[in-house]
Amino acid sequence: MKQLAKQLVARQPVYEPGRPLDDVARELGLDLESIIKLASNESPFGPSPAAVRAAREALSRGHLYPDGNATYLKERIAGKLSLRPDQIVVGNGSNEIIELLGHVFLREGDEVVMGTPAFIVYKLVTLLFEAVPVEVPLAEHRHDLDAMAARVTERTRMVFLPSPNNPTGTANREEDIVAFARDLPPHVIFVFDEAYAEYLDSPPDLRPLIEEGRNVVCLRTFSKIYGLAGLRIGYGYGGTEWASLLNRVRQPFNTNAVAQAAALDALDDTRFVRDCRRKNREGREHLESALAAAGVECVAGEANFVMLTVGNGRKLFERLQREGVIVRPLDGYGLPEFVRVSVGTPEENERFLRTLKTCRC
Ligand SMILES: Cc1ncc(COP(=O)(O)O)c(C=O)c1O
Repeated sequence: MKQLAKQLVARQPVYEPGRPLDDVARELGLDLESIIKLASNESPFGPSPAAVRAAREALSRGHLYPDGNATYLKERIAGKLSLRPDQIVVGNGSNEIIELLGHVFLREGDEVVMGTPAFIVYKLVTLLFEAVPVEVPLAEHRHDLDAMAARVTERTRMVFLPSPNNPTGTANREEDIVAFARDLPPHVIFVFDEAYAEYLDSPPDLRPLIEEGRNVVCLRTFSKIYGLAGLRIGYGYGGTEWASLLNRVRQPFNTNAVAQAAALDALDDTRFVRDCRRKNREGREHLESALAAAGVECVAGEANFVMLTVGNGRKLFERLQREGVIVRPLDGYGLPEFVRVSVGTPEENERFLRTLKTCRC
């Protein structure tokens, strides 16, 4: 079959997701309940109880196809963000929106400007559409907007900016992001990835740029603070033209009914979200100060994870895993001396800190 596949597919790098917990438990002979996973920036606080109730109810109607237009969810998001529903596209995670952007806009040889290290899916999607990733090194772990602007050419079709970024957790300032976006030429689409925006007290607001008619698309997800990573649902918003183009290439039922129902109620539970934001900040600050006290250097991020320098990240990952603590090694991101640790519950954070002491290389 390999000879029959498109060459580009054979060349395509493979995304390495965190392993399922039961898989790790079986391999290492550990009790599943004793393992903690701090590897995928999931919320340790789970989904809002209201979202779980809504999901259960939706499950009983599982014999029916979902609303292919995600009508109610788009209305609710629009109401929350003061947008119109036709400015929004709902996806199977915001990952799907990134892929749909590729379907609509990327031609062979187009350039896509992105920071490095940044969320790996930007590069994977760029390569999938035979476009060219233009990777711009971060400066002190933060996106270097001047350096990125300098790499924009006639061939640039898209620019990705996640803020806070994954895996560094660092954010750029709103005024810098807005100035950067305003300076982009009209043949470039600016994709602002807000996967971790809800962890900030006041996330940058690019809606004025969208209203001005600029080529700006913002991405959000229910996988992080809303605790719905397993249901796969996220969305993007921008101008109406953008949304109608993306709707032409997405599958008719790309998001399922259970995820749509859960997301609707998750959005409304603002108290739960506020609570998660506060608990995340406390957990992150605790991790940062405990690590500093133990002489471990870490990058001051603003999301739901911390990145720390540990010598040999892969080795530390393996040692921690044997003790039932799963973190993310970052050698795949070109950062072999770092690991990324998601903020857990207070108990999980303590367990990580205790185990780290015994496992440091
Ligand atoms: C920066 C960034 N963007 C997008 C995503 C994808 O999220 P989703 O689960 O909505 O596909 C992630 C997930 O880790 C991320 O870190």
